[in-house]
Amino acid sequence: MNQTLRKQDPSAGAARFVPVAALDQASILEAYRRWAHIYDTSFGGFSSKARLRAVSLVNRLPGTDVLEVGVGTGLALPHYDQDKLITGIDLSKEMLRKARERTRERALTNVKALHEMDAEATPFEDASFDIAVAMFVASVVPNPRRLLAEMRRLVRPGGNILFINHFAAARGPRWWLERAMAPASKALGWHPDFAMDAIFSADDLARIETEAVSRFGIFTLVRLRV
Ligand SMILES: C[S@@+](CC[C@H](N)C(=O)[O-])C[C@H]1O[C@@H](n2cnc3c(N)ncnc32)[C@H](O)[C@@H]1O
Repeated sequence: MNQTLRKQDPSAGAARFVPVAALDQASILEAYRRWAHIYDTSFGGFSSKARLRAVSLVNRLPGTDVLEVGVGTGLALPHYDQDKLITGIDLSKEMLRKARERTRERALTNVKALHEMDAEATPFEDASFDIAVAMFVASVVPNPRRLLAEMRRLVRPGGNILFINHFAAARGPRWWLERAMAPASKALGWHPDFAMDAIFSADDLARIETEAVSRFGIFTLVRLRV
């Protein structure tokens, strides 16, 4: 297990999240229809180090059945170990089309399935996966707590839920910048002012382990043991 993952201090929690421009499904679909063509060379490239960190943790965790929530264009898919069997889900047809192309071109035989599906309400049976991982998705979905509840339902006892995401600063210049960017959430397709307590209850905040994976705290890797 990665030694740098830290227990979160809930009393040091980020400012309560009040969405300035909430994202509904229609705005998500529209945003990622536009992003799909340039995603890999824009945000996808910028976030690659953090994504690889999350995949490397998945590869070190026990269990084989992995659900990648909001798989997008499938940038993570080539980096999973061969013994991890990946099911990817995403709302956006256009993003999934890229993921399917990548899977075919790279002959990724451990990618079991890629489904167009809402991660907040999936048809999978309870306890279907050992690991559920959501990379840069928590600040995009309409209802992050519903997403977490669904991931918890799908992961077997003893399994792991992982997030990698941008979480808003609690104070300082970054807080101001994130608040200033928040009205552009719909165009961006994510919430710059997304705080940890938008997804984690006080109980969860006391249990999660976190690791800052980029300079200036832009991305944080979060592990929640089920
Ligand atoms: C910022 S992209 C991240 C893509 C990928 N995880 C990565 O690492 O590059 C966010 C993705 O979440 C997907 N998404 C948003 N809401 C979703 C939902 N409710 N269910 C499934 N996917 C969703 C979007 O369509 C988009 O592909």
